[in-house]
Amino acid sequence: MSTGIIVYVTRTGHARELAQTLGQQLGYPVAEIKDLVPRSGLLGWLRSGSQAAKKLSTPISDPQVDLSQVNTVVLVQPVWASGVVPPLRTWLENHRSELSHKKIALLNSHLGSPLEKLKVSFEKEFFPLTAFDGIRTHATEAEKQQKLKFFLDALKNQKN
Ligand SMILES: Cc1cc2nc3c(=O)[nH]c(=O)nc-3n(C[C@H](O)[C@H](O)[C@H](O)COP(=O)(O)O)c2cc1C
Repeated sequence: MSTGIIVYVTRTGHARELAQTLGQQLGYPVAEIKDLVPRSGLLGWLRSGSQAAKKLSTPISDPQVDLSQVNTVVLVQPVWASGVVPPLRTWLENHRSELSHKKIALLNSHLGSPLEKLKVSFEKEFFPLTAFDGIRTHATEAEKQQKLKFFLDALKNQKN
């Protein structure tokens, strides 16, 4: 029985890379929430920022993972407008009841804006977080590894 899963959203691949690294380190399967909204180019960028700021839920292709067998769910997303990205919001809303009482962690890929408000608003809208951090898109490899280590330590040390 798998005890955990990594679920991620990405626009340009950075969150995928983090999700796959976490998957290798934790031994958890990795699943992508596919974003069905066009997000390329300037228009896509503007649409993404606006939808995130408005806290919208937008269409996805759901990876349909079996959450009944896992006790830890690690979410990985890019940060848009300092918030939860709309495709992740859709997935969280669709699986809210299955996710309650599980250990939830959130790792963000971002350009470096402060993330304290994101943690507060995520926990207000969804669930308490066992581990939370952000890794900058342009972080050095050493910085990335150190952040991942802190994140994994928080995840492992926290009991349900
Ligand atoms: C619409 C939009 C809004 C963004 N807003 C923020 C932000 O508020 N703070 C930040 O640090 N980075 C912001 N970013 C940058 C992304 O979070 C960052 O480039 C991330 O690493 C991209 O991950 P991905 O390659 O998985 O899509 C934004 C990017 C986009 C497209």
